[in-house]
Amino acid sequence: MYASDDSGPAMTPLIARPEWHELLAHASAMFSQSPSSPSSQSPSSQSPGTPLLRTLFAEDPNRAAAFTVQAADLRLDFSKHFVTAPTRDALVKLAHACGVEDRRDAMFAGAAINQTEGRAVLHTALRAEPNAEITVDGINVVPGIHQVLERMRNFATRVRSGEWTGATGKRLTTVINVGIGGSDLGPLMASTALAGFSDPDLTSRFVSNVDPADLLEALSASDPETTLVIVASKSFNTIETLSNARAARAWLVESLGEEAVPAHFVALSTNAEAVAAFGIDTDNMFGFWDWVGGRYSIGSAIGLSLMIAIGPENFDDFLAGLRAMDTHFQNAPLEQNGPVIAALLGILYRNFWEIETHAVLPYSQRLSRFAAYLQQLDMESNGKSVQMDGTPVQWATGPIVWGEPGTNGQHAFYQLIHQGTSIVPSDFIGFLHPEADVGGQHDLLMANMFAQAEALAFGRTADEVRAAGVEEALVAHRTFPGDRPSTVILAPRLTPSALGQLIAFYEHKVFVQGVIWGVNSFDQWGVELGKALALNIGDELTTPEAPTLDHDSSTNALIALYRKAHGR
Ligand code: F6P
Repeated sequence: MYASDDSGPAMTPLIARPEWHELLAHASAMFSQSPSSPSSQSPSSQSPGTPLLRTLFAEDPNRAAAFTVQAADLRLDFSKHFVTAPTRDALVKLAHACGVEDRRDAMFAGAAINQTEGRAVLHTALRAEPNAEITVDGINVVPGIHQVLERMRNFATRVRSGEWTGATGKRLTTVINVGIGGSDLGPLMASTALAGFSDPDLTSRFVSNVDPADLLEALSASDPETTLVIVASKSFNTIETLSNARAARAWLVESLGEEAVPAHFVALSTNAEAVAAFGIDTDNMFGFWDWVGGRYSIGSAIGLSLMIAIGPENFDDFLAGLRAMDTHFQNAPLEQNGPVIAALLGILYRNFWEIETHAVLPYSQRLSRFAAYLQQLDMESNGKSVQMDGTPVQWATGPIVWGEPGTNGQHAFYQLIHQGTSIVPSDFIGFLHPEADVGGQHDLLMANMFAQAEALAFGRTADEVRAAGVEEALVAHRTFPGDRPSTVILAPRLTPSALGQLIAFYEHKVFVQGVIWGVNSFDQWGVELGKALALNIGDELTTPEAPTLDHDSSTNALIALYRKAHGR
């Protein structure tokens, strides 16, 4: 068992591990075989040869099955990656050597693995069965989690049925979630994804940006008499959220009076004192705990707006989906473990192919905010350059995550993925069955997803282009190099459970990568400097007296220009 005062499994530097060197030799050999690898490309090379992925598939007719993993309801096809059985074995050996299993078990057991903040990391406890026992500081946290869930269910049911009314007795039909980061992206992404499961009489809105346009847009479309405002903030001291919440409160009070606040405002937070100081009765607060990271908080009280939208039963299915992937992650052997394999492939590309980005391409318009959600999950977790003990890493860490739903992306940035000079490993996410179909369009959608994964992997050689009768001057332009790796993730339908499984799949993928890189995936000190500077600059922009500016000349000039524009 991992002890909280241990500095983690990265005692031997990652790059000094024999498993790393084995992998390096192995990956380099494979790297040099791909005509698309940067080392194989020179200005003089005319056109790439046969893609390595074609060769790998030709050599092993069983390849698709051999590299497909079933993780709960998700079918994860990893066959279009630069892996052979020995590559997979070498990657899995690295995971074992880095203590992935011990660290995983420590997380699930409630050890304080978030060392820089001295906290446990227990988003997995949020979806544990009521009879589970998970202790933090000697106290079983599971009963408290289920008490909050039960209060959420009662409240959501009363709002949905109209039993909980606004101050003037009208049913609440608009729910505005005011939060940012993990207190916004999770509920926003999931509410968008599960809109088909939502009560059509309820409108969900999300306000996050301190840009007044965001709040004004939501308020101007809402009626105070029928609006519930959920102020979602783990810390309850995030300036964007508090500014928006204050303005929303003033909007309500202006039209319905101070006494209307309890019927229209609830808070989701770990900080009861700050909630009370803000002017929300703590009876109207749904709590959670410091061991729930913001970007991992969708299964906590932060999911209240989602629960109101889709109903408690669907929310329970969502939690069950998260739990199903937890169970898979805890029990599947590493070589058959979906999140582990995805993480290791990410390591392969980031560290051995020196690839910097990772694209997430859902073939589902409902998942339009999924890439944004994963950006926070992945980049805030693993965008780190020091190890647990504060020493600098000597290897690359978290990739730049980005993406948009297909087929829209195909008509925007896929050109670069197909024929550009960067290799972008991609995740295609699709569903066998649509929520509802229109004239067979779901078939077309999925045909596009399968076609893109195929085209990216196998390309089109110059000879094939010529054989299709293309004139010689255009052959190079119309050649596709292939060897653009991707994972194809398929689920039967986009249900609350499937969404929960997808989220937990990525949570655990990010966790495994953080363990191997030896970073703390659960703090986010990198967001602090900008916040502190903004507070200071905020004063300098607004103070009536001309302030003495001692920034750099660029920042000084920008502040002066802004002050002038406002006649200050
Ligand atoms: O800016 C970073 C961050 O702390 C995120 O990690 C978090 O999700 C977000 O701000 C919002 O924080 P809070 O829920 O405390 O308002």
